[in-house]
Amino acid sequence: MAELIVALDVQTREEAVDKIKAIGDAVGFYKIGLELFTAEGPDVVKAVKDLGKKVFLDLKFHDIPRTVERAVRSGGKLGVDLMTIHSIGGNAMIRAAAEAAAEFGENGPKILAVTVLTSLDENDLRDVGILGRTPAEQVRQAAYLAVASGAHGLVCSPKEVGALSAALKKGTLFVTPGVRPQGAALGDQKRVATPADAVRDGATHLVVGRPILAAPDPVAAANQIVAEMRGA
Ligand code: C5P
Repeated sequence: MAELIVALDVQTREEAVDKIKAIGDAVGFYKIGLELFTAEGPDVVKAVKDLGKKVFLDLKFHDIPRTVERAVRSGGKLGVDLMTIHSIGGNAMIRAAAEAAAEFGENGPKILAVTVLTSLDENDLRDVGILGRTPAEQVRQAAYLAVASGAHGLVCSPKEVGALSAALKKGTLFVTPGVRPQGAALGDQKRVATPADAVRDGATHLVVGRPILAAPDPVAAANQIVAEMRGA
């Protein structure tokens, strides 16, 4: 059964805690990203864990293997459940992240690789020296590298998840933002899928922010998304 993760795109720990309390049992998993973590630090992770929720710490590590290994270990000590790295960091860095995560056993953090940021197009790739490849081709290459190097899963768009889940080994996690329930506002998202479509295509976790956080009734919005996921 796929899980819903709510993106805690707020600026303070107080706001985060208020949102989680308001949503209550409807959601058990929250994403903490760069904005909130940079503002509040590890305390916000502890606060979310203290409320009995799972944490996806989305800091997209990209550094030398030793540094990433130690950062993943710090995340494991905080009780983080999912963490992100950039697959462009290469085989040794990904392997170091996976090995540090493995020290925490079955319930330790799972490592997700970011393949190609959805903000980059073919011209941007060329500018950074990735020549003659479309973003889709680069996503596939990066995904194979990440999983072969020990990453537990990938962050991918709803448009990528079908092809990747068909190509990669069973048990790989596919965490998909860019999800919009039927009739919801797109915001700045351009290539979206419904919760049911994303799950049908192989997503194991959906990341949803504004359609829940900005809804007049966040509990009803979350429940509707979970129902759509179950219907897939
Ligand atoms: O509010 P919304 O549902 O668009 O939030 C989606 C979340 O997923 C945000 O935290 C956003 O930063 C993240 N994300 C994304 N697209 C990506 C990678 C991450 O929307 N390609």
